[in-house]
Amino acid sequence: MVGTSLMFFIVSGSNAQEVGDHQYTTEAIERGSRIYSRECALCHGPQGDIVDGVNLRSGVFKSVQSDEDLRQVVFSGAGQGQMPAFGLNDADLSAIVAYIRAGFDPEGVAVRIGDPGRGQSLFQGKGECVNCHRVNGIGPRTAPDLSEIGVIRTPASLQRNLLDPATAILPINRPVRIITRGEETVIGRRLNEDTYTVQVIDSEERLRSFRKADLVSYEISMRPSKGPTALSSDEVADVVGYLLTLRGQ
Ligand code: HEC
Ligand code: HEC
Repeated sequence: MVGTSLMFFIVSGSNAQEVGDHQYTTEAIERGSRIYSRECALCHGPQGDIVDGVNLRSGVFKSVQSDEDLRQVVFSGAGQGQMPAFGLNDADLSAIVAYIRAGFDPEGVAVRIGDPGRGQSLFQGKGECVNCHRVNGIGPRTAPDLSEIGVIRTPASLQRNLLDPATAILPINRPVRIITRGEETVIGRRLNEDTYTVQVIDSEERLRSFRKADLVSYEISMRPSKGPTALSSDEVADVVGYLLTLRGQ
């Protein structure tokens, strides 16, 4: 008994810590908000949308992708001197990045965003993402196609899918288990469903359509199809950076 409850404690504790390590703290976001008002708002405006082609609050930049790029721009300036270099220390640089990544919301979540190039290598290699996911026409269809995932999901949602897939999973993405009148069992992923029919991609990547009236059983699985990633927090930041560049072709 004691062993069980202790174990539960350790698991939930380390999980919370892990999320913390992947994100900026609330203190950093608040500190960043003060620096922003003092140093940046004059040119970029209170909502961050005054400079042409840049919207800091919603993450629209000219050349910046990763957090490191953001720090570099603030540290060294931009636009051939139109934006001055700010000789901020490390903590202040992190704070301003946190405030921007939190969407200017002091209560927001500021996910760390790493290097997309490294993220792509992890996606194709160590992260084993390509074993299940398809991007720009390459890869299997057993898991959702991620070619446009950078447009349809926020950084926080992408990160949650990697750290805690069981809670991040969307209802439509839950795997289904179907048994037909012909006694065939089909495990697959729903593409579409209405009152009378359901369309799935089965485990052999075939598109199948069923009339619900023809099924003996139709279960939506509550079991996530993958566990939390084993990648480190820096690696997760890189993968999220890469996913954000996937914006369709
Ligand atoms: C004197 C005006 C001015 C101030 C002050 C200023 N900026 Fe800028 N910033 C600009 C201009 C102009 C650009 C567009 C430069 C270009 O066209 O490449 C810019 C661009 C940027 C970009 C986009 C860079 C890219 O290439 O993607 C970021 C991020 C940014 N600023 C952040 C900040 C932050 C954070 C602060 C405060 C620490 C700040 N700026 C202060 C004028 C300013
Ligand atoms: C064993 C197969 C498998 C592997 C390996 C895998 N995924 Fe997934 N992934 C899935 C399935 C199935 C779903 C849909 C169910 C869900 O959301 O959990 C999914 C969902 C996602 C989503 C959410 C899609 C949406 O519509 O919001 C993202 C983002 C994602 N995966 C990224 C990754 C990345 C990045 C990796 C590598 C680090 C990875 N996955 C590895 C199977 C996999």
